[in-house]
Amino acid sequence: MRLSPSLLSADFGRLAEEIRAVESVSAYIHFDVMDGHFVPNLTFGPPVVNALRRHTSLPFDIHLMIEHPARYAPRFRVRPEDVITFHVEAQDPPEEAIRVIRELGCRVGISLRPRTPLSAIEPYLSRVDWVLVMSVEPGFGGQEFMPDALERIRELRDLIGGRGLTIAVDGGIKPANVRAVVEAGADVIVAGSAIFGDGDPRAAAEELLRAAHG
Ligand code: DX5
Ligand code: ZN
Repeated sequence: MRLSPSLLSADFGRLAEEIRAVESVSAYIHFDVMDGHFVPNLTFGPPVVNALRRHTSLPFDIHLMIEHPARYAPRFRVRPEDVITFHVEAQDPPEEAIRVIRELGCRVGISLRPRTPLSAIEPYLSRVDWVLVMSVEPGFGGQEFMPDALERIRELRDLIGGRGLTIAVDGGIKPANVRAVVEAGADVIVAGSAIFGDGDPRAAAEELLRAAHG
């Protein structure tokens, strides 16, 4: 299991320091980009994400909760090991989002809301590298994990079979439930409030890793 700390619960006035605090125990940094349309919240966009480049060498895991991923993805400066994830429910057609992100030369991720059937992403699984399973309604940090996500992760595992797709899971993951999420088949754990919720993000990330491995 690899960790992708979500900056949504970090101190936005000190993002570079927050990243540095978790760098040694993380595989990615998760950026929640919101447009106030796809979700009823606003965060940050390409200028902020791009500016943080020079503060870390970790790959970026960019989660686009926006209606027009194909329009805005090219504004992110990416590296081959980064992933840009779009939502299958967004307004831009998934084929278009996949094509545009692929052309940028990074990995392509697809995500779905908790109530969207898995069948909605099935036609695209052969063209993406990463699936982000939402275990809360996208939009806000600090929500309760939806237990139905566990069955969904197992179904997705079966569906992708031997294909080398990464399964990332996002929302409500804490030391108390992380083991179940990993056992269901998650490769990457996204966690915001469990890591940046209080004083020591690095200690909190280490605790999550320990809990995941039992
Ligand atoms: C929610 C975001 C998540 C969020 C997770 O829309 O996609 O990445 O930061 O936060 P926690 O871990 O607090 O549920
Ligand atoms: Zn996210």
